[in-house]
Amino acid sequence: MSSRRAEEFAGAIPLTALLWCFRIRLVGGEYTHKPILHRRSISCDRLGSYPIVEGESEIMDVKQFVAEKTEELRQTVGQQRALVALSGGVDSSVVAALGHQAIGDQITALFIDDGLMREGEGQMVAEVFAGLGIEVQIQDCSEQFFAALSGLTDPEDKRKAFRDTFYQTLGEAVRDSGAKFMLQGTIAADVLETKAGIKTQHNVLEQIGLDPASYGLEILEPLRELFKPQVREVARELGLPETIAERMPFPGPGLATRVVGEVTPERVATARAATVIVEEELAELRPFQCMAVLLNARATGVQDGQRTFGQIIVVRSVESEDAMTAEPTEVDWPKLRRIQQRICAEVPGVSKVLYDLTPKPPSTIEYI
Ligand code: XMP
Repeated sequence: MSSRRAEEFAGAIPLTALLWCFRIRLVGGEYTHKPILHRRSISCDRLGSYPIVEGESEIMDVKQFVAEKTEELRQTVGQQRALVALSGGVDSSVVAALGHQAIGDQITALFIDDGLMREGEGQMVAEVFAGLGIEVQIQDCSEQFFAALSGLTDPEDKRKAFRDTFYQTLGEAVRDSGAKFMLQGTIAADVLETKAGIKTQHNVLEQIGLDPASYGLEILEPLRELFKPQVREVARELGLPETIAERMPFPGPGLATRVVGEVTPERVATARAATVIVEEELAELRPFQCMAVLLNARATGVQDGQRTFGQIIVVRSVESEDAMTAEPTEVDWPKLRRIQQRICAEVPGVSKVLYDLTPKPPSTIEYI
């Protein structure tokens, strides 16, 4: 399968070389709203069947990618059932739409409500997919996730707890659904960053030495050769609405990556309420990604003439092509002041709001 080949190639090439090639390709001005996938015969700079090339390249139509992947999924899944864990992000949405196109009602689209999503996310996803003729099952698993995260403060411990609960929940859902396959929206950046040891991404199990079979799943990752701009092209090709195709990346572990320290329902609620404001206020700037982060620290404030020792929210907004590197968004002062004022006024218990100026590297985009 091409994903296997991708892994072999990625493993065979020094990571620095790969990162460099991706940057040249994506920053070098080649991205347009026209088909952007490149196919060229042999090159050592390649990942799977869609080689990464610099300079001159043969343009491959996105239609062809969709047709090939649809056929591949149809062949692989056969008459069996498949399940896709739909988060509403562009990656999993594309996989769900691709899967539905390939195998129709043999696919179950499951939205696992882990309690770590943004405001109204489940409902929005169900409505969008109902419009495409795809029924989304919403399963409330928030109690399991909060129980697993209880008491944890170390970022990797939190990620591991999330990942284990996610696969356990999903494993149960797969067994209940009778599915043999799980479709996952892993993309090339996930694969590379996991290989680089920057992060243990939950969605590349094999890469971190976990056997998907032990979770009772065979995982199919039709997008692992693509970067985000390409995934958005495929989304448009599949008829997904702009709300999905242009959606900001949102990490698998959700708001748990934006709550520094212990992840409790109350602390997530604070980060979620601040996120609504940040997303609303920055929408017109169309940043690559923006967020509100709750720090694990407090600061003195004054409210209604009383001293408080309140929460600290960081506002982060970044510009990026592929999330491998990022620069802070240049937000103007009145806008920043408005965000600060709204967060202090509308989110209970917040006494300070900060704006994060750090690019990636040296920082990452998320906080854990
Ligand atoms: P970082 O924080 O590593 O994030 O600079 C790079 C991009 O990846 C997203 N991200 C994740 N996506 N599972 C995901 O599916 C994860 O565990 C995860 N962690 C970070 C992040 O939002 C950014 O777009």
